[in-house]
Amino acid sequence: MSYAWWQRGVVYQIYPRSFRDSNGDGIGDLRGILERLDYCVSLGIDAVWLAPVFASPMADFGYDVSDYTNIHPMFGTLPLFDELLLEVKKRGLKLILDYVPNHTSDQHPWFRESRGSQDNPKRDWYLWHDPAADGGPPNNWLSNFGGSAWQFDERTGQYYYHAFLKEQPDLNWRNPQVRAAMHDVLRFWLRRGVDGFRVDVLWNLIKDDQWRDNPPNPAYQPGQPPHHNQIPLYTSDRPEMRQIVAGLRRVTDEFADRILIGEIYLPVERLVAYYGSNLDGVQLPFNFQLLQSAWDARGIARLIDEYEGKLPPGGWPNWVLGNHDNPRILSRVGVSQARVAAMLLLTLRGTPTMYYGDEIGMDNVPIPPGRVQDPFEKNVPGLGLGRDPCRTPMQWDGSANAGFSVAEPWLPVSDDYTEVNVQSEDADRQSILALYRWLLTLRRSHPALSVGKYEPVATTGHLLAFVREAQGQRLLVALNFGADPYELSLDSISSTARVLLSTHLDREPGTPIQGLGLRGNEGVIAELSGVCCGGLK
Ligand code: NOJ
Repeated sequence: MSYAWWQRGVVYQIYPRSFRDSNGDGIGDLRGILERLDYCVSLGIDAVWLAPVFASPMADFGYDVSDYTNIHPMFGTLPLFDELLLEVKKRGLKLILDYVPNHTSDQHPWFRESRGSQDNPKRDWYLWHDPAADGGPPNNWLSNFGGSAWQFDERTGQYYYHAFLKEQPDLNWRNPQVRAAMHDVLRFWLRRGVDGFRVDVLWNLIKDDQWRDNPPNPAYQPGQPPHHNQIPLYTSDRPEMRQIVAGLRRVTDEFADRILIGEIYLPVERLVAYYGSNLDGVQLPFNFQLLQSAWDARGIARLIDEYEGKLPPGGWPNWVLGNHDNPRILSRVGVSQARVAAMLLLTLRGTPTMYYGDEIGMDNVPIPPGRVQDPFEKNVPGLGLGRDPCRTPMQWDGSANAGFSVAEPWLPVSDDYTEVNVQSEDADRQSILALYRWLLTLRRSHPALSVGKYEPVATTGHLLAFVREAQGQRLLVALNFGADPYELSLDSISSTARVLLSTHLDREPGTPIQGLGLRGNEGVIAELSGVCCGGLK
């Protein structure tokens, strides 16, 4: 059986503003990324995904694109992008771009035209609607960033819909011209040689054509984002999405070996529909369950089994521990469990996506009120919803600004940077960075970990265990989610075993073990051999 690169590989997300600033303006850029590609290689990842680097007024830090086929001067130029792509390829890596199809910037020429007059040829490229009888918004739809999703346009007397900021008007994906233009955006980058796209808010592209009100959400709790007050029945995951997704896939399939990864926050049973009825959807609908679940062995064991059970035949799984919209894993689970989380991410069946900085144990960084950047936090303050804390500069070394920039960075650097940084962890054989490198090395050298079967092992309490198996090789992964030791008998799964790796990085690889005495917060990968007595439970 042969597997595609994106099935074997590991994706590494870079948030370009925060990875490395090469020109001293306090904001990361493409040259900075290029200069750190060897670091990516040293990690052992396979593909780099860049959050948006396109021309943009930066109202939502690049998720408000004003020119889909150009690079923001802050990040570089198109020739520099090509140079970066070349250097990525030279190193045997892949490059994935962010594709933002749901909305443009209000400064995009399409929207400037569209808002020109009610009969402008581009009027229907966006979602315009007459006011309600009382002059208010056409319906109750809410913006993800607070308030109504409708913005009144004085000049033309209609409202336009924006699922996010008013500076991010939603495109009308029912319009064939919009679809064609946005398909051409994909082709522009595919022809340049990019290996695929992470598709922003994919499940939101189509809205109800009858503009029906969203129903109230009876489960809403104060403190949740205000738009959770409604069930987004008519603004997301509409039935027409299937054709839209298949259309995107047809475009990427015009080119060999490319991938679509969909950003989709939906319950698993609805998420898996995005693989498409004949796997003609996106190859990887992002599986965010590890971001959203309590850090509990039993709960996570259950969700893995459920996910495995609901995948369509041939649908390839994937797992995510962090991204630029969610609290860092370390801030959720603590320093000791961050290692267990790393082992979980990189041993589960399916493509893992890592988030820059998690590999050195970066934490959420408290942002003083005067330095808040995130428009979400500015619009909906005080609820702790801001995303700046997980977007702070990469910590390269112990020098000023953590070696990220010679200038004051756009977001504060974490106070812990003199210890938590690439340089000092490089020199520490037991650092979390060393652990990530071991895990990635093992994954590469053991097909059981990258493409092997997944078999749960029955356990109780704080232990999560499973076996990965390929080509006769069987690897046990045992993860102690608790602080107390845990004795795992291997009787039912193997007669002998050898330790390959501990999250503590202090076990001698190859040491034979009879049973597995896990210390608190320890994860172990062990190779099983000998006659299997009784099979897996
Ligand atoms: C999801 C992106 O990940 C987030 O950062 C952005 O604000 C919204 N989509 C709007 O594009």
